[in-house]
Amino acid sequence: MLRNNGDKSSSVIDLFESKELITMCAPMVRYSKLPFRMLVRKYGCDVAFTPMIISRSFVESEKARHSDFTTAAGDRPLIVQFAANNGIDFADATEIVCRYSDGVDLNCGCPQSWVLADGYGACLLSKPELVQDMIQQVRNRISDAKYTVSLKIRLHDDIRHSIEFCRQAQQAGASWISVHGRTKSQRNEPVNVDAIKLIKESLTIPVIGNGDIFSLTDALRFHKQTGVNGVMSARGLLQNPSLFCGTEVTSSSCIKDWINLSLSFGATFTNIHHHLMFMLEKIMPRSERKLFNSYTCLASVLDHLNEFSF
Ligand SMILES: Cc1cc2nc3c(=O)[nH]c(=O)nc-3n(C[C@H](O)[C@H](O)[C@H](O)COP(=O)(O)O)c2cc1C
Repeated sequence: MLRNNGDKSSSVIDLFESKELITMCAPMVRYSKLPFRMLVRKYGCDVAFTPMIISRSFVESEKARHSDFTTAAGDRPLIVQFAANNGIDFADATEIVCRYSDGVDLNCGCPQSWVLADGYGACLLSKPELVQDMIQQVRNRISDAKYTVSLKIRLHDDIRHSIEFCRQAQQAGASWISVHGRTKSQRNEPVNVDAIKLIKESLTIPVIGNGDIFSLTDALRFHKQTGVNGVMSARGLLQNPSLFCGTEVTSSSCIKDWINLSLSFGATFTNIHHHLMFMLEKIMPRSERKLFNSYTCLASVLDHLNEFSF
């Protein structure tokens, strides 16, 4: 599960104090794993999230702990995101990871039906008192004031509810909140930057904006439009892990770094291949990507990349 012994990094709180705009790699199930986090960190990403981890299984099963959470020296600042539906599971899971991370995050935005069925994710948006209790239970167990407890939310249909929800979380001790600017029923609708701006203006804790950031220009525009303390990208970083450095598409050095990092951290072939498919989306012609996608072993992938002119 762990390859380091809890090396300390600058805390996320310190980063908020020292930088006008923090860059973050979003939690992504299957994708924001250790080698990818190390890659984006190399290319200008300040803070990275683990994929969402189900807190109950994490606490109960050693197998789940081994498969769901791996870190290493240099993988900091790290935020571990949990799906939880009660304060005890959330606090128990936090105690396990706190030595190896800089904060925990409660998923209050995932709209998938299996997540909602278990009382996780976006259904917490209508349970502000429960969320307050969950934040407080973690706060009561973790003595390090710089260890953050954050939420990642989607918007309510009525922005006043979002603001009230965030204020209640702030009152309970949330360190910061990231906001994906869509409601739980929205998929490809434009991100509601005005709502994020209102939330930012209504809180004293830092707010991170998320949604449709595919370039550094997008990130800076988002910052300008909303005044957020940080920006978070998911699909943009999958397509171009060097986006926070200002490159328009994935650079060849970034692809080489991905191969080296994924091999040195023991990523599976499927994971290496999937990430490459995302990274090559904007730089390899469609017909060639079809062939690249059909490969079933690493040797074919590496041979193809050796021949590919970036
Ligand atoms: C492949 C994938 C996996 C995701 N997994 C998670 C997750 O584990 N936890 C979470 O809060 N959001 C998850 N999301 C949502 C993203 O974190 C983000 O909020 C959303 O994609 C909008 O940001 P974007 O426009 O930069 O992609 C996932 C998104 C993608 C594309």
